[in-house]
Amino acid sequence: MPVPTDPNRVIVFDTTLRDGEQSPGCSMNLGEKLEMARALADLGVDVIEAGFPIASPGDFESVQAIARQIRGPVIAGLARCNPADIDRAADAVKDAERPRIHVFLATSAIHREFKLRMTAEEVAKRAVEGVKRARDRCADVEFSPEDAARTELDFLAEVVERVVEAGATTLNIPDTVGYAVPTHYAAIIRHLKQKVRGIDKCVLSVHCHNDLGLAVANSLAALQEGARQVECTINGIGERAGNTALEEVVMALRTRHDFYGLTTGINTKHLYPVSRKLALVTGTQVQRNKAIVGQNAFAHEAGIHQDGMLKERSTYEIMRPEDVGISRTELVLGKHSGRHALKQRVTDLGFHLTDEQLNRVFEEFKNLADKKKEIYDADIEALAENQLQTGTGNLWTLVGFTSTAGTGSQTSAAVALRHLDGTVRRDAAIGNGPIDALIKAIDRITGLAVKAVDYRVRSVSQDMDALGEASIEIEHAGKRSRARAVSQDVVEASALAYLEVVNRVAMRQVRDRLKPTDHVPTEVVPSS
Ligand code: KIV
Ligand code: ZN
Repeated sequence: MPVPTDPNRVIVFDTTLRDGEQSPGCSMNLGEKLEMARALADLGVDVIEAGFPIASPGDFESVQAIARQIRGPVIAGLARCNPADIDRAADAVKDAERPRIHVFLATSAIHREFKLRMTAEEVAKRAVEGVKRARDRCADVEFSPEDAARTELDFLAEVVERVVEAGATTLNIPDTVGYAVPTHYAAIIRHLKQKVRGIDKCVLSVHCHNDLGLAVANSLAALQEGARQVECTINGIGERAGNTALEEVVMALRTRHDFYGLTTGINTKHLYPVSRKLALVTGTQVQRNKAIVGQNAFAHEAGIHQDGMLKERSTYEIMRPEDVGISRTELVLGKHSGRHALKQRVTDLGFHLTDEQLNRVFEEFKNLADKKKEIYDADIEALAENQLQTGTGNLWTLVGFTSTAGTGSQTSAAVALRHLDGTVRRDAAIGNGPIDALIKAIDRITGLAVKAVDYRVRSVSQDMDALGEASIEIEHAGKRSRARAVSQDVVEASALAYLEVVNRVAMRQVRDRLKPTDHVPTEVVPSS
């Protein structure tokens, strides 16, 4: 990516699909990643870090699909500083409109000594070799000295200078373990800007983790010192306490333009829909009081505040909810709404559905509207999201079930599933509660014993007749998979969510049988 001509324009580098996706409970399948990538492009991010291609064949496939299908943003693939990683990343991003390879290597003394077992000079050399190899494959190369915030300043400056000379076009300074505080982090950026020859040819970038709750503050401090790329994730998801939250840093720059004088290319009206979409896709809800996108972010409870708001909104409101895409009126559609109105709402909520998917959402919407008089955005999101998640070519689909539960009686469930070959198979089981019984009956049919590691149910909107959402995370052969489903019946939602993950495991087994794994990373895949 060329150095932006406007010196006050900040490049927004989104790493939700890489650093964010690595965090527990946030993994996404290919369809979900593509849908998120489309939403990020619509949001106006400048760079999408689509994944870490060498980490697994699935990661490679999703980076490649995003590179091929998403137009607008630069598409980056992550690589360690070794030829296999770099070549794999180059292959994955090569069909992008604007590809980028992001290479990284740890530079701090702790990492050099205990993780890499390399001397400082060996690290510097390896970094240079990595950048050169990446430059041979791609004109846009970002380099990150991992754990930069804990690296000796002089050595950091030396490595940075050598990789700039080797051809890096963006230099990212990660606070990998969230150790920095704003004045300290700002001083690192200032030092590099003053001391490193040729640094002005590159974009200086910041990448902060939130272990001390300072990721956004640190990022802003670095931008004040002249960094012009900020790396961040939607809802701040990421390893441990997460990464810099995109919505927070963007709204801080916008709301305090008087102070920072910086702009981004983000269409802020998409912030809330994208945040909701990520929460739906990953099953990880944002906390109620989360800045910008939390349920309470624009709710005024105190009487004095409400009184002030009624007189003049700016007394207690520094941002307008509509500017981040939160509509003041929540109630949107009812049973008389047509397909066109539904389509508009689904699009406003940030979904890209095919006509066929939209028809199915419309059908489900009409069924729901017959049972439930008020349909909220959250209901529509849940129905739309259901379509995106439902895999094609599933091995098993639910035909029907019955379950019995009650005080003093044993709980049992009977299930009928249709196999891909068209046959319907039935079985029954008893269990501790209707959901346990249902899952056991499904396991008896599929013959797959997966271990459920997390199970949640919640109501999608506020009424007693609201849609219920079930979200299940399972573990099988050392891999975790999460799925969610909605229905007015939480037992049915649970069965559908469970079947979705069972199908993923079953399809993975089929794929693994057909296709040998063609790439195995040689080192441990990093988690930050
Ligand atoms: O936190 C970190 O250091 C990273 C790098 C790979 C950029 O995520
Ligand atoms: Zn990171």
